[in-house]
Amino acid sequence: MEESKTSSNATSSFTAVIPAAGIGSRMQSDVPKQYLKILDSTIIEHTIERLIQHPRIDQIVVALHPDDAVFNTLPIAKNDWLTCVVGGNNRCDSVLNGLQICQSEWVLVHDAARPCVRLADIEKLLALANTGTGGILARKATDTMKRALPQRETVDKTEDRNSLWHALTPQFFPTVQLRDALNACAQGGLTVTDEASAIEQTGGTVTLVEGAIDNIKVTLPLDLALAEFYLTQQSKEQ
Ligand code: CTP
Ligand code: MG
Repeated sequence: MEESKTSSNATSSFTAVIPAAGIGSRMQSDVPKQYLKILDSTIIEHTIERLIQHPRIDQIVVALHPDDAVFNTLPIAKNDWLTCVVGGNNRCDSVLNGLQICQSEWVLVHDAARPCVRLADIEKLLALANTGTGGILARKATDTMKRALPQRETVDKTEDRNSLWHALTPQFFPTVQLRDALNACAQGGLTVTDEASAIEQTGGTVTLVEGAIDNIKVTLPLDLALAEFYLTQQSKEQ
């Protein structure tokens, strides 16, 4: 495949933007979920440590809630590679704010609430920079998938599972392409729930890179025990 202007060579370094400005309403905890502890540290510390461990990530931008009083009390906040920005009302606004200070040609966006991401999966995703086309970590749907009738808990039809994937993070795109796509969606009044949606809406191509199923987003109370289990299992693999 011919490489586009935005392709990177094998030695490029990358910025990771971490949206962490959410309040974690579905988790129903007293503190935003990224500050809940798993094993010996908070979820966001696990997440940032994973990204820092990757040899090709050398800038981390964390988008925080304007009222966040916790992040700067964490030891990891002193890391030299890390910069904080103020997040926005929606995840896409937080990501856009992070992109303003992104220094690399391509950028990874990774949820603060996904502490179990594997370095091997990040490596697979970064390889897309050589193709010129961005993409996302994703996993294949395993359950039979139903589409409901509008506003009803009644099945309309069964979807073809073979063409359905769960979108995970990181999501990895040329920085300018992603910024332009997110801005276009914002101007059009479209709230997108991931970066890939913005790329899709603006006519871009998104490659699906199959990732490990333990890269869960801690969303509901039961996810906390699951993330702890996965982190413990992963620590035994090394
Ligand atoms: N996020 C963000 N800015 C927002 C909303 C979300 O940076 N305005 C971040 C969250 O902190 C999280 C990631 O986007 O790391 C994924 O979002 P989600 O899992 O939905 O987290 P919350 O929005 O915090 O949770 P909930 O939807 O249950 O309130
Ligand atoms: Mg949310």
